Amino acid sequence: MVVVGTQWGDEGKGKVVDWLTDHAQGVVRFQGGHNAGHTLVINGRKTALQLIPSGVMRPGVACYIGNGVVIDPVHLLSEIERLEAIGVEVRSRLFISESCPLILPFHVEVDRAREALRESNGTGKIGTTGKGIGPAYEDKVARRALRIQDLKHPERFAQRLRDLLALHNHALGGYLGSQELEFQPIYDQAMRVAAQLSPMFADVGYALHLSHQRGDRLLFEGAQGTLLDIDHGTYPFVTSSNCVAGNAAAGAGVGPQMLHYRLGITKAYTTRVGSGPFPTELPIDAPGTVGYHLSTVGQERGTVTGRARRCGWLDAAALKRSMIINGISGLCITKLDVLDGLQEVKVCTGYRLDGQLIDILPLDADDIDRCEPVYETFSGWTESTAGLTQWAELPIKARQYLERVQEMIGVPIDMVSTGPDRDHTIVLRHPFQH
Ligand code: IMP
Repeated sequence: MVVVGTQWGDEGKGKVVDWLTDHAQGVVRFQGGHNAGHTLVINGRKTALQLIPSGVMRPGVACYIGNGVVIDPVHLLSEIERLEAIGVEVRSRLFISESCPLILPFHVEVDRAREALRESNGTGKIGTTGKGIGPAYEDKVARRALRIQDLKHPERFAQRLRDLLALHNHALGGYLGSQELEFQPIYDQAMRVAAQLSPMFADVGYALHLSHQRGDRLLFEGAQGTLLDIDHGTYPFVTSSNCVAGNAAAGAGVGPQMLHYRLGITKAYTTRVGSGPFPTELPIDAPGTVGYHLSTVGQERGTVTGRARRCGWLDAAALKRSMIINGISGLCITKLDVLDGLQEVKVCTGYRLDGQLIDILPLDADDIDRCEPVYETFSGWTESTAGLTQWAELPIKARQYLERVQEMIGVPIDMVSTGPDRDHTIVLRHPFQH
């Protein structure tokens, strides 16, 4: 099964993956890096994960980091140590693909320097997380990346690092007008961390094949969201990997037969961090407004960057595109409780663009920017839905809203999440029973 975000990320995938992991033997990350931030609340205690699959909070579940993920080894080790400090056993069940490209300090420097340049020269920032994700993927595609497997060969690593560092220093010291970095500290730190991580290096694709053959249930956990996908998102305001369900196979090294059910995670409204078009966006700063309500009640701040997320109404026309690209089998609607108490609730059904009415998100970010949303309005509900576990307990207006959303999008709602804790979940069709 694959779990992906259907909007611009932060849909609440981590909680849902953690919940589903009760029924799985392995959880696999297949793209992105530590730009992702998954907040899990277990027995009232918050844990933030960035690189390590959300399955790690269930004892005994195997966690795999597939080849499609870019790894900052220093960050990975510190995340492992943070989990160990709260009593979570990680090293015996974390498998790191040897083919993962590495994020090294110059990638972070290039990412930040480029953003600064874009801001100062008026091109406009992408609003990246500043973790070096884009530059690391560029090196992968340019076939010059250092990969996890290089850490096992100090001489080979040193040689390739010298070459790559020279290239990046050229850009940093030149048109990026930033600090050049030194070889030795980067090399020494990488070798120190490699000694700790190397017992976890693995042939992940083969390990997943064997696990599948044993009859294990595997869960592929997407990061970011469909509209941030490098090909299908609001380019260039996107991340640098394919976030769509189909990439779970390529990014983990398995065949597509393992992706038989695709669960789309959809927040009951929309948020976005970073720049880029967002047709249903609402202002979030004025108390008493809907945008302020979504931002504050939904606690919409980035897990990784702490930035306030932009907020707006649910966009069914954007979701329509997501459903198609991912081939979504069923939806999980999250954060329904954030809409409690609103007088009315709106859903965008399409847009007006150049005098035409369209019912799907356009492909060109400039066109999206010019889209005027067309809304269907529902009356809100005053009752609290927080923590509910049964569909029948939901206020009738909330049910009507969800039923209509399901109809607009054309995909069944299989789950509803009504709060951050594991138990705050309504199940209509269990995803693992397909
Ligand atoms: P990058 O992935 O750091 O290069 O950032 C590119 C864009 O993706 C920016 O708009 C980020 O805010 C956004 N982004 C990256 N990771 C996440 C995430 O996990 N949730 C939401 N947005 C993200």
